[in-house]
Amino acid sequence: MSQGIVTAAYIGATVMFILALDGLNRQETSRRGNYYGIFGMLMALLATIVGIVSANYFILFGGVVIGGTIGLILAKKVEMAQMPELVAILHSLVGLAAVLVGFANFMVHDTAIVGVDKTIHDIETYLGILIGALTLSGSVVAFLKLSARIGGKPVLLPARHWLNLSLLIASIWLGMVFVNQSALGGGMLPLIAMTIISLIFGVHMVMAIGGADMPVVISMLNSYSGWAAAATGFMLNNDLLIVVGALVGSSGAILSYIMCRAMNRKFLAVIAGGFGTSSGETASGPAGEEGDIVAVEAAEAAEILLDAKEVMIIPGYGMAVAQAQHAVHEITRKLQAKKINVRFGIHPVAGRMPGHMNVLLAEAKVPYDIVFELDEVNDDFPDVDVSVVIGANDIVNPAALEVPDSPIAGMPVLECWKGKTTIVLKRSMATGYAGIANPLFYKENTRMLFGDARDSLDTVLKNLA
Ligand code: TAP
Repeated sequence: MSQGIVTAAYIGATVMFILALDGLNRQETSRRGNYYGIFGMLMALLATIVGIVSANYFILFGGVVIGGTIGLILAKKVEMAQMPELVAILHSLVGLAAVLVGFANFMVHDTAIVGVDKTIHDIETYLGILIGALTLSGSVVAFLKLSARIGGKPVLLPARHWLNLSLLIASIWLGMVFVNQSALGGGMLPLIAMTIISLIFGVHMVMAIGGADMPVVISMLNSYSGWAAAATGFMLNNDLLIVVGALVGSSGAILSYIMCRAMNRKFLAVIAGGFGTSSGETASGPAGEEGDIVAVEAAEAAEILLDAKEVMIIPGYGMAVAQAQHAVHEITRKLQAKKINVRFGIHPVAGRMPGHMNVLLAEAKVPYDIVFELDEVNDDFPDVDVSVVIGANDIVNPAALEVPDSPIAGMPVLECWKGKTTIVLKRSMATGYAGIANPLFYKENTRMLFGDARDSLDTVLKNLA
């Protein structure tokens, strides 16, 4: 295949990836976005296999078959709630690939590259391995934390900022040694030393982050994996890898920024770690003022709903655990048939991954036009007759606004308590992800409906006749 056709295919694939990102922006177009992405990746693979690779086809196809089979099995097996940990471990593979390509690139260096070109080439190799190693170890730790194989609490070493600074300075110095190749046995030794430092840095960085900041870490590692891929593209002189890496790198960075804004966290504060050090027990003030709660049965909850004109459903992680989305849709249809206006209010970090609730509601075929973002509905609660909180906790916790030293202080929450009545469906008085008490449960206008969300909703549904 001529170079021109490969370039044309790469440009086509790039356009497909941009269309994929655009499609994934909105629920209505996300399926189409996925198809664009799949098609773009197929184009890229084909152009690379036919146009660029000229030997070792056996190894290439072996890799495609083994990798493709593992991917297929994982995608079929993974539960929705395990998605973040799967994403984390996949990021680690991108990091590993960048490290391996970097070392291979260094070992079989092109002797024709000299002077400034060689310096640029060395810097590319060095940065590629550095970002790759950081992504690799950081993602492995994120995977271990998210899959509860190690504790999720932040591990804060006494002089952690100094340690980070020393690692950074050591990496810069080793970079200079590597590029000049003046000492330490040519370039290999500083390269290995820097790789070890980057691996330690990745472990240290992610170990120090915990609690509700983990989603930001995942999207940040997503961004790093993109930059690692872009660096690999520079090393291999592959334009498509550079462009796609930059797309992933920048979109991951934008997602991290959006999530930080949604949780009212400063990006640098997240990276510096330390979330959750003032743990749930220290959440004082209204959060600690435990008073009486009012429990209701499902039949009573159904009556409250039938008396309403405006209903807001707020799903959270518990809806995913209970797989209650289909029952929610049935209830929505029943209420709509009785001319009751039903809307869904979705918090940006509800559940355990970005868009978790949207995916579940789409699976249950809840129409998109009644599903709203926090910003779109948060001012409407004074006009809401009944809010139904389904397995949500942190995202409706007034402590975020009322308790300055709460670990979630400043995080925007769905202010359902401003409505007439709130019905909270959960199994017990247990805390949510952030591990802090929720004063919402003790408010006068809150009714607690205890039990598995799906069982409770099934009974509510029967009583809506
Ligand atoms: P959470 O605060 O985790 O609360 C979920 C609640 O669901 C729990 O209090 C639990 O109470 C209840 N629950 C669990 N299983 C249930 C079942 N079968 N039936 C009924 N209730 C059940 O969830 P949230 O309000 O969605 O907030 C999300 C939290 O996770 C935030 O802190 C967020 O920062 C964090 N986080 C988010 C993400 C992303 S990107 N979305 C990723 C990681 C972490 P019981 O045990 O009493 O039933």
